[in-house]
Amino acid sequence: MTDPLFNKIQIGSLKLKNRIYMPAMHLNMAQDFLVTDRLVNFYAERARGGASMISVGYATIDNMSGSSMNIGAHSDDHIPGLKRLSEAIQSNGALSAVQLNHSGRYNFSFFLDGKTPVAPSAIASRLTRETPRELNIDEIKEIIDAFASAAYRVKQAGYDAVEILSGTGYLISQFLSPLTNHRTDEYGGDLDKRMRFGIEIMEAIKTKTGQDYPLIVRMNGNEFMQGGSSTQDLITYARSLVDAGVDALCINVGWHEARVPQIVSEVPRGMYAYLARRIKESVNVPVIASHRINDPVVAREMIADSMCDMVALGRSLIADPYFPEKAKSHRENEIVHCIACAQGCFDNLFQLKSVECLCNPMAGYEKERAIQKTKTPKKVIIIGGGAAGMSAAITAHDCGHDVILFEQSNQLGGQLHLAGAPPGREEFSVLAKDLANQLMVRKISVALNKKVDMAIIESLSPDHIIMASGAQPITPPIPGIDQSHVV
Ligand SMILES: Cc1cc2nc3c(=O)[nH]c(=O)nc-3n(C[C@H](O)[C@H](O)[C@H](O)COP(=O)(O)O)c2cc1C
Ligand code: SF4
Repeated sequence: MTDPLFNKIQIGSLKLKNRIYMPAMHLNMAQDFLVTDRLVNFYAERARGGASMISVGYATIDNMSGSSMNIGAHSDDHIPGLKRLSEAIQSNGALSAVQLNHSGRYNFSFFLDGKTPVAPSAIASRLTRETPRELNIDEIKEIIDAFASAAYRVKQAGYDAVEILSGTGYLISQFLSPLTNHRTDEYGGDLDKRMRFGIEIMEAIKTKTGQDYPLIVRMNGNEFMQGGSSTQDLITYARSLVDAGVDALCINVGWHEARVPQIVSEVPRGMYAYLARRIKESVNVPVIASHRINDPVVAREMIADSMCDMVALGRSLIADPYFPEKAKSHRENEIVHCIACAQGCFDNLFQLKSVECLCNPMAGYEKERAIQKTKTPKKVIIIGGGAAGMSAAITAHDCGHDVILFEQSNQLGGQLHLAGAPPGREEFSVLAKDLANQLMVRKISVALNKKVDMAIIESLSPDHIIMASGAQPITPPIPGIDQSHVV
């Protein structure tokens, strides 16, 4: 029987080798809107890992649509960098796309040299705590043209497709939602008028890039915003997008202002597949499901059960770029799962730092931290089998050293098991298992229930000892802290 995850599929005229799509993730790795080596190295590695198509971005369409840490697509000066990135993806085996977006009332004035962000209506944003300025009709037409021009640059830079972000609460979805669009002209009012901005953008892109240039739209399956677009509105919008020539839909979950959990570890794996299915039942183009798909078993089941045609693996491919290759070659126990902690990716993003990963020290440092084989192998003892000890063991082994890891308890994982104990945090224990599997496949020597003493050190005579025995909690010297009622 063939593996549903690795069946071929077509988006418009494009032939994809499998069902794994890497969705756009703004990584804060561009500088002055320009593609950097860091971005190129990051995505080349994900392409090598086996995803069929990689969408980069989001990229800006004008100077009000994002920040200078976004990849830019609003000037011809951006084309050479974009081209370098698409070539890195394609030459390593994946198809490439750029996601274009305008953040509208989700932009911050400090990214815009103090200028007020723009929106369909002047309605304050809970995300930014700022009130945007209402766009006039001329400005709306300019933005539609800017989307089309940016899409044309994407095509000129050699990408296989262009993707438009029409969800998550960004500008196009702000026009669609009655919550944020209070206009009384041709771009506001009933659903047809609220859809108009998005549909005109897609039509302008098709006119500018050619009807056969593949166009993907990322839209919400549910906004999870009270008073926002209804499920039926979103289905009608999906159908209208397809009528306008859109070749595939990637189904997103919630707005940034929504109170419903979307990406945290409490959200069960594959939980939002039902949103993709609802859209899939209403359109005749491929539908990509998204969010918390971090395991091939779940991904495979979603496709086999016709919930979706493809799966978007976002953070899963930050945590392990080789997830697709491992799933394909029956090495699933070697996958390092994204544990939905947000500590290296989203947390960094909101601190204006480049994206990293708690589970993958190489993410964002593909070149700088590339493993160099040693010419002088050493004997290395590692004391402690928690996350740090296991990671040190893996790196030292991969560099060619002879490694023995000692753990005084009867299991590997250390504090990860404590972190994984509260309900909804179980994924932390998955990391303990994944790292232990990494030791196992490398056949690294592990001694459990063994406290290292001088006799052991003298008998093994190591060149290096790495102490990874964990930290002790600090108890501040507060009077009364040792009383029985203090927890
Ligand atoms: C650091 C980061 C940046 C993101 N930026 C974008 C973006 O620019 N456009 C977009 O459509 N989604 C963006 N997302 C959302 C992801 O594409 C994806 O939908 C989300 O992480 C949930 O899927 P996952 O559980 O597979 O990661 C971002 C996610 C992360 C972690
Ligand atoms: S930092 Fe956490 S949530 Fe982000 S990709 Fe890594 S494991 Fe996933």
